[in-house]
Amino acid sequence: MSHFILLIIVTSLSLIVQTKHSGTRDLQDRIKHKLDSLLTDGYDIRLRPQYGAGPLHVGISIQVASIDSVSEVNMDYTLTLYFQQKWKDERLAYKHDNINVNLTLDNRVVDQIWVPDTYFVNDKKSYLHTVTRSNKLLRIEPDGTVLYGIRVTTDLACMMNLRRYPMDEQNCTLEIESYGYTTKDISFYMMEEGVVGVNNLELAQFKVMDSKLIIKNQTFATGSYPRVSLSFKLKRNIGFFVLQTYLPCSLITILSWVSFWINHEATAARVALGITTVLTITTISTNVRQSLPKIPDIKALDVYLLCCFVFVFLALLEYALVNCSYHNNLARMKKKKLRQKMKESFEAEEKKKNANYSADFCVETLDDDGYEDVETPNHKLNHGTGLQDSGCTSKQSFDSPLARCGHSTKRRKIVGSGYSGGSQWKGSRADKASKRRRQTYDRGSSIGKRHRGITSRPRKPFFSIKAPEIEDVIKIDKVARAGFPAAFALFNFIYWTFYTFF
Ligand SMILES: *[C@@H]1O[C@H](CO)[C@@H](O)[C@H](O)[C@H]1NC(C)=O
Ligand SMILES: *[C@@H]1O[C@H](CO)[C@@H](O)[C@H](O)[C@H]1NC(C)=O
Ligand SMILES: *[C@@H]1O[C@H](CO)[C@@H](O)[C@H](O)[C@H]1NC(C)=O
Repeated sequence: MSHFILLIIVTSLSLIVQTKHSGTRDLQDRIKHKLDSLLTDGYDIRLRPQYGAGPLHVGISIQVASIDSVSEVNMDYTLTLYFQQKWKDERLAYKHDNINVNLTLDNRVVDQIWVPDTYFVNDKKSYLHTVTRSNKLLRIEPDGTVLYGIRVTTDLACMMNLRRYPMDEQNCTLEIESYGYTTKDISFYMMEEGVVGVNNLELAQFKVMDSKLIIKNQTFATGSYPRVSLSFKLKRNIGFFVLQTYLPCSLITILSWVSFWINHEATAARVALGITTVLTITTISTNVRQSLPKIPDIKALDVYLLCCFVFVFLALLEYALVNCSYHNNLARMKKKKLRQKMKESFEAEEKKKNANYSADFCVETLDDDGYEDVETPNHKLNHGTGLQDSGCTSKQSFDSPLARCGHSTKRRKIVGSGYSGGSQWKGSRADKASKRRRQTYDRGSSIGKRHRGITSRPRKPFFSIKAPEIEDVIKIDKVARAGFPAAFALFNFIYWTFYTFF
């Protein structure tokens, strides 16, 4: 009896399993048949769904996986996204066949059904991931709705305005468009999911501030095409640049001011400091420029680097000024003593001679000797300016006529004193110039008049600055000590205010 009951149970169980098994096999067979009939008889891959009956509505959803890099040099950015499209192809509907499941099919079936010819307008290079199999998804619902998804990484062009770099904001877009089908054939709409994942994006150098999605019609010569435009607003993080560029630059500039506290006689120390700081700023700006495209725009960073460079350069020039005036003052003091002596000797000699010689006579003699071209500007200078000579200019010294007319010493001396009478004589170059002239004459007398004329032409000053006295040398440094930091602080204030608020 118990055996009989057991037999019945086992038989009925096996029957249930069998029917269930035959049920799945039946479904499999039905789907297989359906797919065979769907994809072979009557399905024309060349024709879009709803051909001739208004545009096909293609839903789009985008999940942004990551923004991998933003390149200023190439003006592009790399985006990895899951891109899904959904449309209804009634030719693929199978609900009448009593199959009530969603069919997820192998990605190779994608090649056998019609799919929209969507492309990314601004892409430079894209690739579909193929590990381990092609990253494509195909799902068909009983009513013929097809969901087609891909995972794609794409380099998208993004024209950047770098005028505010590195305090800039960039607007980079992803443009999706149908390549061949115009608005008469296809229209895009966003699926309920829309755009996902933008808020979770993490970039090293940027922060995604905002994203916008626009669906529009784009008109080309061949017609009007539907376009979905997704744009990201990327704001650059300035932290990196503060550490990498702004801070080092400011510190180098501050370092260059150390020179103002070093004794002005320590030429080696001050020049070395100046040159080193100038070179360091140059190196920093070269490094910065390597990661940027060669565009003519002046970037905010360029402005800062350039100003740092100017500050450092001016600090070096300040020392040049200090050094120049210092040495001029030394020379001037020596000259003063020397001149005092000479003047005394002149006066003594003058007393001895009588006033038979006249200046005119001497000039005539000079003409005969062929020195007119030398004398004329010299005379003008002497009379016109009263020979107020600053250290860095070269003017004729009173003893130069004497040098030139060396062979007739008596007359020259009187001429010299005649012109110099009552004038103030300053300057160190003048003395050198006259010395040079004297040498030239000594050589020139044997070589010829023309040669003498050219070589002994007095040097005219390009510009004349009033060189300060010895005390002023220290004063220059003192002014620089306060002036440079104040100017740099003001510059920083203006710079940061401008780029933060405007
Ligand atoms: C098929 O997919 C659609 C949309 O994804 C869903 O609403 C529906 O419930 C699914 N049907 C089955 C039987 O899973
Ligand atoms: C695009 O063109 C289609 C067909 O001409 C029209 O129905 C649709 O409203 C247009 N869309 C936009 C955003 O202008
Ligand atoms: C980016 O620029 C386009 C065109 O100027 C504009 O329509 C879009 O709103 C901008 N995107 C953002 C996020 O501001």
